[in-house]
Amino acid sequence: MKFFIDTANIDEIREAASLGILDGVTTNPSLVSKEGKNFRKLLDEILEIVDGPVSAEVIATDYDGILKEARDLADIHDNIVVKVPLIKEGLKAVRTLGEENINTNVTLCFSPSQALMAAKAGATYISPFVGRVDDISTSGMDLVSQIIQIYRNYNYDTQVLVASIRHPLHLVEAALMGADVCTMPFAVINKLFNHPLTDVGLKNFLSDWQKLNEKVENPKKA
Ligand code: G3P
Repeated sequence: MKFFIDTANIDEIREAASLGILDGVTTNPSLVSKEGKNFRKLLDEILEIVDGPVSAEVIATDYDGILKEARDLADIHDNIVVKVPLIKEGLKAVRTLGEENINTNVTLCFSPSQALMAAKAGATYISPFVGRVDDISTSGMDLVSQIIQIYRNYNYDTQVLVASIRHPLHLVEAALMGADVCTMPFAVINKLFNHPLTDVGLKNFLSDWQKLNEKVENPKKA
């Protein structure tokens, strides 16, 4: 399973990359806006840090506009994956971009029928937003499971990139279902390492080791 970080924050990307488990980055206009930096310069910085797919989203919503922005983004670096919204004009553009060997990530997917359309258009990745589906009292993970089943039924190459992840259980469930990629905020990546029994176990190992040292150094006292 591939791990992407879902952020445009350079410090977070750098720290996640240093962990040695990072395969790529996803950004979106809201995440980029939060950083208040020039988009092009930000992408250059990210591409320097991570040698893997970096999703950069188009702002245009019409076919010609999407194609123009997508081609400009793809020209920046081979690792750029053009993120395109799941709308009619977007999927038309995805088909054309695929013919030009430009990788695409179809975003804002909330239903299995949308995911099927994206696969038929030849998307490289489909991004179901599990957290936002959960937010409206529907199961985001059921959506992922249905997409995986449909793609398996017809051998689609489109990779399932689980997005809008809010906690480690989303990742675990996605992994059990066989999703190709999870993109996670930095806070979720951090939580993946934690377990209270690991902390207690390590504390005990270290204090037992300390006791051994004391015994060896002061055998009479022991
Ligand atoms: O980048 C797309 C997606 O992961 C956004 O997540 O938390 O804004 O629903 P969120």
